[in-house]
Amino acid sequence: MEMVSESPEATWSVGEFVGKRLKGGMVLCLTGDLGAGKTLFTKGVAAGLGVKEDVTSPSFTLMNLYDGRLPVAHFDLYRLDDEGDLDEIGFYEYADEPVGVAIIEWADKFPEALPPHHLSVVLSPGKNLEERRLAFTARGDGYEGILAALEESFAQA
Ligand SMILES: Nc1ncnc2c1ncn2[C@@H]1O[C@H](COP(=O)(O)OP(=O)(O)O)[C@@H](O)[C@H]1O
Ligand SMILES: [Mg+2]
Repeated sequence: MEMVSESPEATWSVGEFVGKRLKGGMVLCLTGDLGAGKTLFTKGVAAGLGVKEDVTSPSFTLMNLYDGRLPVAHFDLYRLDDEGDLDEIGFYEYADEPVGVAIIEWADKFPEALPPHHLSVVLSPGKNLEERRLAFTARGDGYEGILAALEESFAQA
């Protein structure tokens, strides 16, 4: 499922839409260059999950935890050089746990490490500075409902 976001606010809103529909155990894998909007999208997702705290980029901490309607683990793998260090930052613990939600920025860095069931979101540049293309793909099971809802609310001609 693909869509165009015309503004930062629109990207945030799509994130919120997804966040409202996430269930325990779900994983979002975000891919896109620096400035693509991964963190902004994550802020929307967190809001949709009822997180009240300010969500900031875990570029240096690599992982932040938030409490919403579900626990949220937000990863940023940009500065992680060694796949072997994923264990240390709690990646497998949170990406494979059935209660909370995991959101992973730079998910494409270690594709082998990703859980088999996840929703992939690829953010790429649009036709101008305020535009982004968002491409959603379900990997494994469980994300058909969210994709259908996105299709119904955001599909563009
Ligand atoms: N349509 C859009 N969607 C998302 N971000 C946008 C958009 N248009 C402009 N921007 C800007 O791009 C930047 C995205 O930053 P950020 O979310 O931190 O990116 P990333 O986490 O992918 O590095 C923000 O400054 C935001 O205001
Ligand atoms: Mg970021």
